[in-house]
Amino acid sequence: MIIFIKIDVNYKPSKLTFTEDDMNCGSGLEGVVAAETLLSDVDGEAGRLIIRGHSLEQLVEHCSFEDVLELLLAGLLEPGGVPWPAALGAAREEVFALLPRTDPRLLELSPVEALRALLSRLADGADRATAMQLLAAPAVFTPALIRLRAGLDPLPPDATLGQAADLLRMLHGTVAPECEVAALNAYLVTVMDHGLNASTFAARVVASTRAGFAAATIAALCALQGPLHGGAPGPVLDMLDAIGQPQHADAWLEQALRRGERLMGFGHRIYRVRDPRADMVRNALLALAAARATPSARLVLAEAVEAAALRILLREKPQRSLQTNIEYYTALLLDALGFPRTAFTCVFAAGRVGGWIAHAAEQVMYGRLIRPQSRYVGPQVGARSLTRAATTDAGTR
Ligand code: ACO
Repeated sequence: MIIFIKIDVNYKPSKLTFTEDDMNCGSGLEGVVAAETLLSDVDGEAGRLIIRGHSLEQLVEHCSFEDVLELLLAGLLEPGGVPWPAALGAAREEVFALLPRTDPRLLELSPVEALRALLSRLADGADRATAMQLLAAPAVFTPALIRLRAGLDPLPPDATLGQAADLLRMLHGTVAPECEVAALNAYLVTVMDHGLNASTFAARVVASTRAGFAAATIAALCALQGPLHGGAPGPVLDMLDAIGQPQHADAWLEQALRRGERLMGFGHRIYRVRDPRADMVRNALLALAAARATPSARLVLAEAVEAAALRILLREKPQRSLQTNIEYYTALLLDALGFPRTAFTCVFAAGRVGGWIAHAAEQVMYGRLIRPQSRYVGPQVGARSLTRAATTDAGTR
């Protein structure tokens, strides 16, 4: 079933219309239009991402994380009156104060589970103050969690820094060199928004119930963490470690496909050509390696594995164009910046939270409750005896 949320040129509240064209319930909603948005457009055939009328390439080249947040959220939150960098800096300080001093249970959780738990400490709302805290929270909690897991004290934010610089400072305890700040900034801008991806859709569904931005963000993070979405880059690094040497790539990849596994960092629901974000992240990685003047053996390995994977996927899965996606080079970039692989998804959330809040705000402002239908394909009333069914269910569950 297609749900068109129709928005006129003045962008007034939506009207739902339904057609019977698409009742393919196993489609994963592929090709289904479930919202109209002013925020971003993913062109999967051309390999283009547009955010609020600007190409991703322009934004990465010219903008800070704060600049793109301001652009994305324009008109969706009540005016703040304070420049974005200062407002975000203040929000980081507020969020840091919510970090529990002692909670050993947090360290038993994976970083993304712990981040989810910490986000739940924020009061909910659909106002600017809540949005600012959520935009700051993953950038504060992620380095704090990494340090706590390493037996180190979390470091308080420096509100005078930009978000990328402060995130790295809170991680390493020293002011990061400009090349690292530029690399992380490019990454955070690159991942900020990307149409109606799974986590953003989750955010919009929750926001459509008027549950609040915090609830929408937590739901989105839960969707992000899966390995088919934002949980992929950790396993990419595991794959590279398991392959070890370029000459082992073909055999390793072929065996993985023979076992029915997916190659992490390849394939995409929308892109039929190379994910343009993969090139943005790869460029950031190359610039970082050049500035450090240290050759990366892992980059050499990754390029050999990528070439082998594309060749083998073309041969084994000719029916689907499977290309490199953003997560492949994300793994290398975040590793090069000193993030542990278990926390890669949390860093992704530090960028994507901008998109989640923007879509949640857009949904609240112009959308309607998202409530699709399912098609019942179970037995009809009378087809099964209640007593027998109950016994069978109890016996088999
Ligand atoms: N490796 C091997 N085969 C793959 C891969 C892959 N990475 N991706 C898709 N395929 C195959 C499927 O097995 C299927 O083959 P079949 O027809 O022989 O069964 C065919 O391609 C079509 O697959 P679908 O599941 O229909 O593709 P879908 O659009 O649903 O999947 C997805 C997109 C989930 C991203 C998929 O490509 C995948 O699992 N990739 C690996 C995980 C990954 O890198 N995720 C990050 C995506 S980017 C992001 O979310 C930010």
